Amino acid sequence: MLLSLKLVCASLRRQRFHTSGSHSKGQTAAEHLWLTRHLRDPFVKAAKVESYRCRSAFKLLEVNDRHQILRPGLRVLDCGAAPGAWSQVAVRRVNAAGADPSAPVGFVLGVDLLHIFPLEGATFLSPADVTDPRTIQRVRELLPGGRADVILSDMAPNATGIRSLDHDRLISLCSSLLDVAPDVLHPGGTFLCKTWAGSQSLGLQKRLAEQFQNTRTVKPRASRKESSEVYLLATQYQRVKGPVED
Ligand SMILES: C[S@@+](CC[C@H](N)C(=O)[O-])C[C@H]1O[C@@H](n2cnc3c(N)ncnc32)[C@H](O)[C@@H]1O
Repeated sequence: MLLSLKLVCASLRRQRFHTSGSHSKGQTAAEHLWLTRHLRDPFVKAAKVESYRCRSAFKLLEVNDRHQILRPGLRVLDCGAAPGAWSQVAVRRVNAAGADPSAPVGFVLGVDLLHIFPLEGATFLSPADVTDPRTIQRVRELLPGGRADVILSDMAPNATGIRSLDHDRLISLCSSLLDVAPDVLHPGGTFLCKTWAGSQSLGLQKRLAEQFQNTRTVKPRASRKESSEVYLLATQYQRVKGPVED
């Protein structure tokens, strides 16, 4: 998955500078097939036209259009933010760069193991591991009031290719984020996370249902049909531990 993402983003970058569609000699047939499909992908083309860093922007845009999770003035924690497409969407939707002077100004904090190139209106903590307590401490320091109104996670571990193992590792990443929600997420807040469907999906959904008033699964059109990728959206966070500072 991570390899795919890197290829997607590398390809987007390549398209910005080259017009040739030919593939390099070192490419395997599978890679060539993947790139051919990728270059015909309407979301890749749209990402290029709309200057998004990655096609994944359209997943968040669709979830947001359907469920209105982002609005001006909100504080967003974007986990697994590299290369920054979700943060681009979030910055625009919460008015984090102050582009609309008549609307409240929000805040976007992106965290990733990988370096993220600067983006106007966003604050990036990278390289940083969201499963590391020191990162969460820093996140709390950086978020205005110490909390986010929305936690986004498009995190994906390095795929091993062993479906059940990759599934377990992604569920574990989502769970670790849910573990820190009492310290980071504002009451009434929203949690959106990427999962790969599998044996532990129900367990994670149950945990979300215990802590949020509403939970649902979402499969945006930009998420490839053949992928087991599905997003869990939970709204109206109820569980609070420790003082809420704002
Ligand atoms: C699918 S990409 C995210 C794409 C991003 N939403 C965008 O639109 O640009 C997944 C990211 O999760 C990050 N990631 C995986 N495990 C992580 C962890 N423990 N802490 C922080 N980031 C992590 C990876 O480095 C990778 O950049």
